[in-house]
Amino acid sequence: MPNSLITGASQGFGRALLATLVAQRWTCVVDARDAEALQAATAGMPGVRAVPGDVADPGHRADIVAAVGGRLDLLVHNASALGPSPLRGLADHPLDALRRVYEVDVFAPLALTQLALPALQAAPTPTVVVISSDAAVEAYPGWGGYGSAKAALDHIAAVLAVEHPDIRVYAFDPGDMRTAMHQAAFLGEDISDRPEPATVVPALLQLLKERPDSGRYRAADSLIATR
Ligand SMILES: NC(=O)c1ccc[n+]([C@@H]2O[C@H](COP(=O)([O-])OP(=O)(O)OC[C@H]3O[C@@H](n4cnc5c(N)ncnc54)[C@H](OP(=O)(O)O)[C@@H]3O)[C@@H](O)[C@H]2O)c1
Repeated sequence: MPNSLITGASQGFGRALLATLVAQRWTCVVDARDAEALQAATAGMPGVRAVPGDVADPGHRADIVAAVGGRLDLLVHNASALGPSPLRGLADHPLDALRRVYEVDVFAPLALTQLALPALQAAPTPTVVVISSDAAVEAYPGWGGYGSAKAALDHIAAVLAVEHPDIRVYAFDPGDMRTAMHQAAFLGEDISDRPEPATVVPALLQLLKERPDSGRYRAADSLIATR
């Protein structure tokens, strides 16, 4: 059975991806900060080890990598911080809030990858996925904090890929999804027209199955319909 580590799997895209991997008999180590919500989200799932904690906490990162064991086939950096809601322009963006976004969205995935490298290199076909966003490449007003962090994460993924040609490293842009984070970004707006996260999972599975070259991929470009 292949082993995976997915951060931020108590709801949204992480939870949807987890459900699919479990159905395909993967073993999965997962986290989220809210221990009760994580427990409820993973209850009854075979092969799942839920380790509550914050990816920005070095001790927690050590715990989840230890929980994986000696071989890691798939590492998905899904947990993410949006920053202030409502969104704030860069002119008065609170820098402490931005530091937290960078801790969660940039430093934590890099640090976790560093820790997990030996286990990844012990897998026959290792894959690292960072969950990106169109805000990493488009300049939307109000999205400069989160978007710049995702741009940094994309670049980390690109450089990791050339430094470790033995590992597939993908930045995966899922597109808009009807989740808590999306609602926080579009505060008070009706987001019921956005697709459910489960509809985006097949596009990521296609990447895992076909193993194209490392790079940045958008669910919207997938051969598999995401809506
Ligand atoms: N939704 C969209 O439209 C959209 C669009 C483009 C990209 N994305 C990206 O897709 C990914 C998933 O987003 P989503 O919309 O599914 O979010 P979501 O529904 O808000 O779920 C986020 C998950 O991550 C966990 N999490 C958040 N911060 C964490 C931390 N510091 N440590 C550990 N776990 C943490 C949350 O649980 P706790 O709160 O309990 O920690 C939750 O399980 C993110 O990388 C996001 O940037 C989303």
